[in-house]
Amino acid sequence: MRNLLSIETMSRADIEQILAASGPMKKDRGHLSRQPLAGKSWAMLFAKSSTRTRVSFEVGIRELGGQVLFLNSNDIQLGRGEPIKDTARVLGRMVHGAVIRTFAQSDVEDFARYSGIPTINALTDDEHPCQILTDIFTFEEQRGPIAGKVVAFIGDGANNMTNSWMFAAAKLGFELRIAAPKGYQPSPEILARAGGKITVTADINAAAEGADLLYTDVWVSMGQEAQSVERIQKMTGYQINEALVKLAKPGALVMHCLPAYRGKEIDEATFEAHAKTIFDQAENRLHVQKAVLDWIVS
Ligand code: CP
Ligand code: NVA
Repeated sequence: MRNLLSIETMSRADIEQILAASGPMKKDRGHLSRQPLAGKSWAMLFAKSSTRTRVSFEVGIRELGGQVLFLNSNDIQLGRGEPIKDTARVLGRMVHGAVIRTFAQSDVEDFARYSGIPTINALTDDEHPCQILTDIFTFEEQRGPIAGKVVAFIGDGANNMTNSWMFAAAKLGFELRIAAPKGYQPSPEILARAGGKITVTADINAAAEGADLLYTDVWVSMGQEAQSVERIQKMTGYQINEALVKLAKPGALVMHCLPAYRGKEIDEATFEAHAKTIFDQAENRLHVQKAVLDWIVS
């Protein structure tokens, strides 16, 4: 039985298999002859807000023939303190798979272990694997293989997105440069776990120089709201804007996992100039996650 709990624990072969299946999934939308989730019910257990992940998984599960139950953690006994391992053992006897968005990575891992059903990480504090698979698919759709290319991540260098980018870099053979202020850079421990060609700098111009992709994410992730003032103060200047884009390779892509805060991690003009790519990226969540669901049940 398969799970998708992190990029760190995925093999390169599995990543490549999902990426290869995502294009046909996109092309065949509306006339896929197979229904790999027919007769199956999937639960979506969310402890954090979501627009893209929720809608793309709900639509994707239905398009593959499955039924879906959306469960906000606060509406079920989990929100009143029922342990994840008990919730997992109940759901594991009733549904055929689970998509989970929560805080602790260990909760997704415990759920998978105790439920015994295919489990997908739909974002934790540590990783956002479905987003990264989609980002790489979107890059490759527009620019060809990401191996050998340069990705510059600008902003919060120690969040779930940066972690997933780091684990992907070694597996897929691209260079990753992370530009973040001191205090918001990846820990040496995660860098060591990731391996690969990763540089960390406080100099955003050095990171962007000649890059094939400029990427950013919010400065304040879900669950960090109490640190907003300090984070915004420290990360001011770590913004993708037209001056930074000029330093990148001509024709470089600009991507954002969304939601975006204009005037913070990206300015309005740059966001709108690259909106086609950014919303292709959002749409591709649907196609890539359908490939993930097909892979996980096969
Ligand atoms: N990018 C992303 O995961 O968006 P949502 O939080 O809206 O799901
Ligand atoms: N780092 C962000 C990603 C949102 C999709 C967060 O965790 O809030």
